[in-house]
Amino acid sequence: MSGPADNPFRTAPGSEPPALVGRDAETSAALYSLTLSESGAPAQPIVFTGLRGMGKTALLRRCVAEAANTNAVIIAIEPSASEPFASTLRRGIERAAKASASLPQKLRTGFEKIIEALPRASFELPNDLGAVSLSAPPQHETPDLVNALEDLNDTTRHNGRHLVFAIDEVQSGPVDGLRDVVTFVHATANTKRPAYLLAAGLPGSREHLHKVRTYTERWRYFRLDLLTVDETKDAIAIPARERGIDIAPAALDRLAEESAGYPYFIQEYASAAWLAHRGDVITEDDVERAIPGMRRLLEDDFYDARFRLLTPRECSYVLALADLGPGPHTVGEIAAQLGTTSDTISSIRNQLVRKDVIYSPAGGMAEFRIPLTDRYVSQHKAALERRAHDSHVQRGRER
Ligand SMILES: Nc1ncnc2c1ncn2[C@@H]1O[C@H](COP(=O)(O)OP(=O)(O)OP(=O)(O)O)[C@@H](O)[C@H]1O
Ligand SMILES: [Mg+2]
Repeated sequence: MSGPADNPFRTAPGSEPPALVGRDAETSAALYSLTLSESGAPAQPIVFTGLRGMGKTALLRRCVAEAANTNAVIIAIEPSASEPFASTLRRGIERAAKASASLPQKLRTGFEKIIEALPRASFELPNDLGAVSLSAPPQHETPDLVNALEDLNDTTRHNGRHLVFAIDEVQSGPVDGLRDVVTFVHATANTKRPAYLLAAGLPGSREHLHKVRTYTERWRYFRLDLLTVDETKDAIAIPARERGIDIAPAALDRLAEESAGYPYFIQEYASAAWLAHRGDVITEDDVERAIPGMRRLLEDDFYDARFRLLTPRECSYVLALADLGPGPHTVGEIAAQLGTTSDTISSIRNQLVRKDVIYSPAGGMAEFRIPLTDRYVSQHKAALERRAHDSHVQRGRER
């Protein structure tokens, strides 16, 4: 017998899925690079990129967990544009020092030195108290961060350990702050004591890192995509079976179809089916009962809220982009689909970027911001076409 508490599926962002399937190539590449780096050989930093919910954080955490089984001292950070990078780094280093409880005293001192040198996190008073931001001054003069990191690296290596940076949401990291870490990692690459860097971020991370240092072009980028049908079935069936629960083949087919290989949806639909089942088998009936409610919830969260705000002309653009299929498309292709020129539709494109429906992965390209938007659009085509049609009527009247 199993109950809700046995539910193996994990829907919280960044949570490790019960079976991390379809990411073997990425995991092996990262582990190989970590081994190289540990042995003192230079290794290319790796960046996992992908749209929201594709499993970047889960994969990064898996690699970090594997690295933690070696001699790595891991500095895991998630920079954001709204926090000084030094504060982010400081917290990451504090956490690394705490997590490595068995650090030798000398290494502990090395950590303390760099922690003291970095500015403390700032404290914000709530708005009704004036929203003042207070930041404690560093206790000593702040040394050049790159030098401080190099000292820490030397001490770490001296104590038989090696440094690994794991940077999530790298596309949000302030360029100047990231530059210190990237420069430091790069400088160690040609020594016998390389530090290693793994990162994850939205598409656009490569371009962001290019602004940090142009040599990041030569890092390895893995774009995480939707899982295949077989991988999706494994992601659902393996954890269930491990808990003694079978899934009827037709039920598994429906779950795979509905989640369409999108890792976030896989966990949500599998979790809903788990909660609907009784006994030792998840049946097709369980799945059919679970799907409509979950679909409504996900469509509302992911798409409806954005799509409600679209003007008729924006609807036309979205329909054209969806007709071209998943992935990025050139502005020229979209214009051709609409029977017009790129210039004519550039302002619509900008509005859709502002409304967070599309983004520009590279100059002259557009892609939906949320995975499976093309599927959502095709499932709601009639309603969107009606709204798009209104724009023609409207423009006809304006003429
Ligand atoms: N390979 C996988 N197989 C099955 N489920 C996965 C896989 N990778 C991640 N997941 C699940 O997908 C969901 C989203 O994962 P995660 O938060 O890591 O995505 P993300 O790309 O970091 O998203 P965001 O851009 O919003 O930070 C989580 O519930 C996670 O457990
Ligand atoms: Mg994430």
